[in-house]
Amino acid sequence: MKALKIGVCGVGNVGGAVIENLTSSPQIVESNGGVKIEITQVGARKGKSAVPFDLDVTTNLLEVAQNPNIDVLVELIGGCDLAKDLIEESIKNGKNIVTANKALISTHGDELFDLAKKNGVQIGFEASVAGGTPVIKALREGLVANKVKWFAGILNGTTNYILSKMTDENSSFEDALKQAQELGLAEADPTMDVDGTDAAQKASILSALAFNTPFDFKSVAYGGIESVTPDDILYADQLGYSIKHIAYGSIEGEEVNVSAYPTFVSKDQLLSQVGQQMNALEIFCEDIGSTVYYGPGAGPKPTASAVIADLVDISNGGWPVLEDDIKKNTLCKEGKKTFSRYFKLDVKNEAGAIAKVSSLFAHENISIEALVQKESKQNSDIPSVPVVIISGPISDTNAFQMSGNLDSMEEITNSVKQFRIHNAL
Ligand SMILES: NC(=O)c1ccc[n+]([C@@H]2O[C@H](COP(=O)([O-])OP(=O)(O)OC[C@H]3O[C@@H](n4cnc5c(N)ncnc54)[C@H](OP(=O)(O)O)[C@@H]3O)[C@@H](O)[C@H]2O)c1
Repeated sequence: MKALKIGVCGVGNVGGAVIENLTSSPQIVESNGGVKIEITQVGARKGKSAVPFDLDVTTNLLEVAQNPNIDVLVELIGGCDLAKDLIEESIKNGKNIVTANKALISTHGDELFDLAKKNGVQIGFEASVAGGTPVIKALREGLVANKVKWFAGILNGTTNYILSKMTDENSSFEDALKQAQELGLAEADPTMDVDGTDAAQKASILSALAFNTPFDFKSVAYGGIESVTPDDILYADQLGYSIKHIAYGSIEGEEVNVSAYPTFVSKDQLLSQVGQQMNALEIFCEDIGSTVYYGPGAGPKPTASAVIADLVDISNGGWPVLEDDIKKNTLCKEGKKTFSRYFKLDVKNEAGAIAKVSSLFAHENISIEALVQKESKQNSDIPSVPVVIISGPISDTNAFQMSGNLDSMEEITNSVKQFRIHNAL
């Protein structure tokens, strides 16, 4: 049987699960993958106490990167500092890499892949997007014969859990977040999940594979779920939608737009049914239409499963190396891509106010497909009434501009909110 000698750096949630899997049940990978994976060395800054197995452990992680007896360095420490140094040093020493580090790949992917190519080694990063759900494999292998037109994904389990709680149990955002933290589904500092950074990083990685763009997280537009209120969820439900945090990428000609925002998804679409902390990715290709991938997007065991799948692939020779002369498409942050929109406005309870709002939409050439007044104007004690407008398709730029114009109207009493409506066509 083939043998693969690996070094594991970082023994936290994921690193611990990789070591546990390969040490406790190696026969599964041996019989399914036809390779004997041997952990030659572990890099753990806490030393032996962090590794409950009889393995060679060093507190100097660079030693792993330089160890001549190692074929693959598995980087599971996270971040862009030491992780990057370790990977570069390993590549220069002729080692293949497997990593779960979306922050690093989405920011420095191009230079790392260039370096790997120059040194004739491979980088596996299946675990960096959607954890145990093999979406990278789907894009670079299963769908290789197709032109991807768009993808739409629920790529952050924490935000999906929070939105599910708000939808199913009428929880407030704060209560749902607290529950996610108690269950270990959200970090003590959940900022990167809640503000959309994590999903945007993953979306930029998907874009590189789906649309042949650079790994360019900076060019992804994104927003978080903090602005979603129970009222929005209720109104969405009444209109036949769920609210999901959707990472969306599409290509028109050579222009690629990638973004991640809370989005209305029609209840008749699969993505709207993805609850709790689960992830899902819908990939629409020109000739075959949609395929959908669903599963656990994080957690030690699912993520370790993806790491080990990459190790098996590397033992089989890895992935094709693309020619340098294939022109890359660029990511455009200010995209032309249009979406229908949900606008939520609080309009003064006075004669003619709603008519003025409608005229502004007409003036800006934005069609109104539905306008629903959520409370009766008959009650003259109410100073303002909530109004929901579903507009025709407009770009993000136009939607933000329209919100600004509405905000400056004296008939509007609260900051206007707008969300995209996902159109799976
Ligand atoms: N957790 C998930 O569900 C999940 C899912 C997908 C991808 N990922 C990615 O997987 C990677 C690891 O995540 P994780 O959840 O396993 O993180 P974690 O539990 O925080 O583990 C990180 C490990 O790296 C070590 N480490 C961090 N900085 C170090 C440094 N400067 N020097 C030496 N050791 C250092 C930590 O050591 P100490 O124990 O001494 O602090 C710890 O052992 C990250 O890139 C993450 O984005 C995680």
